[in-house]
Amino acid sequence: MNRGVFITGTDTEVGKTVVSAGIAGALKTRGINVGVMKPVATGAMMTEDGLISNDAQFLLKSIRCDGPRELINPVSIELPLAPLVACRLDGLQIDLNKITDAFQRLTKTKDFVVVEGIGGVWVPITEDYFVCDMIEELGLPVIVVARAGLGTINHTLLTIKALQDRGIVVKGFIINGINEKEATIAERTNPEIIEEISRIPLLGVLPFDPKIDVSSLEIGDLIELTSRYVDLSTILL
Ligand SMILES: Nc1ncnc2c1ncn2[C@@H]1O[C@H](COP(=O)(O)OP(=O)(O)OP(=O)(O)O)[C@@H](O)[C@H]1O
Ligand SMILES: [Mg+2]
Repeated sequence: MNRGVFITGTDTEVGKTVVSAGIAGALKTRGINVGVMKPVATGAMMTEDGLISNDAQFLLKSIRCDGPRELINPVSIELPLAPLVACRLDGLQIDLNKITDAFQRLTKTKDFVVVEGIGGVWVPITEDYFVCDMIEELGLPVIVVARAGLGTINHTLLTIKALQDRGIVVKGFIINGINEKEATIAERTNPEIIEEISRIPLLGVLPFDPKIDVSSLEIGDLIELTSRYVDLSTILL
């Protein structure tokens, strides 16, 4: 079994948190000692306990766990912007060692860690360190989360190519948020087309479930849906 998997996406808001939480929760129901991580989060909320990232909270909920926060989300920033932009506006400097240290410590206590990225693969964390650099440094294989509809062929192929150009292993891609009853022609045909052109395995098509909402920490039937529609065995290999 691998040490974990890095979940990236073709863009922001494509469903990385939903897919990461679904995978983590579904693996936990299989009896795996799974951990979650959101190394860098922006748009975090200030609370009495300090800055809290919604994504990190949702991930933790999926595995019914509540910390330790400093390992789950070592870098938390309030402004809802790309990390580099938020840091420039707020005069902050990200300590990149915090990310790798937290990951190393988490992997000591967990058998498999699901790591959610931020935005897409070329999002800048600092001026010379991008999400793809972080993936490389953590040494994890990647799953790409993509939208279901028109435009996703281009975005998914670009993301896969960018990762492969860096020598990063792409385990597969997952199409998220398909409307099962009223799928458009693009939604129905995109998964096979992307698989055919990229030669990267489709690991699942996750339906849209109105009961899921990351912002209010509503997990709905996400874990059951992930167990049914996502190829967990390939993710663990
Ligand atoms: N399969 C789904 N069913 C219902 N709602 C979904 C589904 N996938 C995503 N959403 C909703 O769409 C929004 C974006 O999803 P999510 O937060 O997982 O995206 P993200 O890629 O993690 O975004 P970010 O770049 O901000 O981290 C959220 O409000 C979430 O609740
Ligand atoms: Mg997210």
